[in-house]
Amino acid sequence: MAGRFRWGIVGPGNIARKFGTGVLLSETSEVAVVGSRDLGRSETFCAEFGGRAVGSYDEVLGAEDVDGVYIATPHHLHAELTIAAAKAGKNVLCEKPCALRAEDAARAIEACQAAGVLFCEAYLYRTHPLTAQVMGVVHSGKLGVIRHIAAEFAFGAADDWQNVRTVLEYGGGGLMDVGVYPVSYAMMVFGGEPKRVSYLFEKSESGYDGWASGSMIFDGGRTVSFGCGIHVQMENRVRIYGTHGMLDVSRPWDCTEGFRVKSHGSDDWEEIEGIKADRFGNEVDVFVRSLDQGFVASMTPDDSLAVIRTLDRLRIYGGLDFPGDP
Ligand SMILES: NC(=O)c1ccc[n+]([C@@H]2O[C@H](COP(=O)([O-])OP(=O)(O)OC[C@H]3O[C@@H](n4cnc5c(N)ncnc54)[C@H](OP(=O)(O)O)[C@@H]3O)[C@@H](O)[C@H]2O)c1
Repeated sequence: MAGRFRWGIVGPGNIARKFGTGVLLSETSEVAVVGSRDLGRSETFCAEFGGRAVGSYDEVLGAEDVDGVYIATPHHLHAELTIAAAKAGKNVLCEKPCALRAEDAARAIEACQAAGVLFCEAYLYRTHPLTAQVMGVVHSGKLGVIRHIAAEFAFGAADDWQNVRTVLEYGGGGLMDVGVYPVSYAMMVFGGEPKRVSYLFEKSESGYDGWASGSMIFDGGRTVSFGCGIHVQMENRVRIYGTHGMLDVSRPWDCTEGFRVKSHGSDDWEEIEGIKADRFGNEVDVFVRSLDQGFVASMTPDDSLAVIRTLDRLRIYGGLDFPGDP
């Protein structure tokens, strides 16, 4: 495209600040308009990252000088904001999870397709070159046939944490905040959707999953065990086990370290240096460079739908009900 891609940012909180840094480091983009429910917060954001501050999300969606919107609010607002952005003719990069339920994600993605705008769910690891490197080893056959994946993502906030991530009606708890990562990673490696799933946890007082153990089985007996949570720190690795060898990714989510590979029968790990890239700047550039083809190859709308259908199934298994579920 001619000129820099002009981003509108909705919900200038924690992750939007990192995104703003990424836009500044990107080769393709600039911050154009930033919307908060509080104009002062937009102004503070714009003082650091540029752009014009407005005091509502609607003003961002309606702005003529915005080519695409980055939706960085809590989970429960993602689907409806995506639909509103699509109706306003804006391309959409939406934070994960793209909705609380598959039916809402489907409506959001249909709205983007009807409007002819690009939709991508912002799983940073998917667009990062480190993940393509890992997938290169998986596809090389070096590990043999992949039979099992063990993965986790969890952090240890206090049990009485006062945060939007603990509000059940907003999709609070471990699965929707961080469990989405190991689930979507395993689905990327195995391809397709699992045949069966399980998800076990004890409900918090307000009904969310503070920490949990999940499993999935795919065609051919290929299995996944995963952990996630917001009240216990885990190691946060991905391990991929094949018939010939294993692969261990120490920082699969922020992609800041390389990974290692070992053949069965050998004690020696081969260290593989990871390709370095600013994760947010890279995500921004990948999104903009995908505009012409209409989808981001490493995280397509179909990928998003498959992941959220699986999240629905995991929630049903575990009894993780959000107010408003059908
Ligand atoms: N890709 C990643 O690596 C990554 C990492 C962290 C989070 N995320 C995702 O990004 C999203 C935002 O996470 P975050 O950590 O940036 O959240 P956050 O800082 O708590 O909230 C982001 C912004 O959302 C707006 N907001 C709208 N309704 C809100 C409500 N009821 N309560 C609180 N804030 C509300 C607020 O902006 P205003 O009040 O100014 O409008 C707030 O600053 C989440 O869905 C999360 O899953 C992704």
